[in-house]
Amino acid sequence: MLRLGITTLEQLSAKADRGPVRAAVSCQLYEEARGSDETPERRQKLQSEVLRRLRFPNGTYKRTHPSRFDQFDCQVVEASCELAGKGPLRLLDLGVSDATTSVDLWDRLEAKLARELQFVATDKYIEIEIRSHASGRLHFAFDSSGELIQVRHGRFVSNCYGPESWKRFPVNRWLLERKVPRLVTKYRSGEDGDFSSRRVRLIGHRALELERRSPGFQTGECDLFDLPEGPFEVVRAMNILNPGYFDENRLKTALNGIHRVLVPGGLLVVGANEEAGSKVEGGVYRRSASGFEFISQADGACRIHSLIMERATGVS
Ligand SMILES: C[S@@+](CC[C@H](N)C(=O)[O-])C[C@H]1O[C@@H](n2cnc3c(N)ncnc32)[C@H](O)[C@@H]1O
Repeated sequence: MLRLGITTLEQLSAKADRGPVRAAVSCQLYEEARGSDETPERRQKLQSEVLRRLRFPNGTYKRTHPSRFDQFDCQVVEASCELAGKGPLRLLDLGVSDATTSVDLWDRLEAKLARELQFVATDKYIEIEIRSHASGRLHFAFDSSGELIQVRHGRFVSNCYGPESWKRFPVNRWLLERKVPRLVTKYRSGEDGDFSSRRVRLIGHRALELERRSPGFQTGECDLFDLPEGPFEVVRAMNILNPGYFDENRLKTALNGIHRVLVPGGLLVVGANEEAGSKVEGGVYRRSASGFEFISQADGACRIHSLIMERATGVS
């Protein structure tokens, strides 16, 4: 009927030990886990549980895993090492979530590449803002464009996208649809006063450390439909150019943008899979003047292979 959310690290820790967490987890625990005295691996696990059920306004999730593409990463490293050129290899990684898989690829590339590496790990949703009422009972989490993504009121935590089902948890849905809009209206009117704000970067500890010690590695916000100028030798998009997330026209728009920012002969790396080490359906493609040429396949065919090859005939 009513499912309470997870609002303390102790609750999160206990639930995470019993399997995947199903209740909504307060976004505040992301920073609390970072500052806790758990081991780095345990902190990473708790942080990924915070992100696991959080859904964003465009319907995407931030699920990711360390060592997610081991074999395919080796393939990508090999293709990248074969690229001609003596200057830095500039790589744009799109939709990286907390950049765990970016660090995996960076480590492999760094070990093999005989040139400088400039790696930009990006995601549309890297920073959130949490606004907390002085009472400590009410908290709103917004994405960086100001969209409300989560509300916490006492022990009730509701994700605004991908909420609980009416059938299984009618009280949660009733609260989300009736009570939350009233809380938001009151908050926006300023009548409720006294809110403090803080920004939280949803970047894992390995990526933060790498960014601190290696000037060649950076993280930042970037929408795959609005890419930076570049150019880049390699653009990678793992578990984001999915037909389940975007329709065919949107996927074509994204491919056109990637084509625009790649150098001639540069690489497009695309793939999708489930847990760490699971079969990757993906491929490596080379940018040609009119589109893309197929270079190699991962364990299985890329789910948008035909769209990428269609781009090869100059479809815009
Ligand atoms: C399923 S995760 C994939 C994370 C990582 N690439 C991996 O494979 O483990 C998808 C990520 O894409 C991000 N995302 C969603 N829409 C995006 C967009 N329009 N541009 C860039 N990133 C986006 C989400 O925030 C999420 O972190």
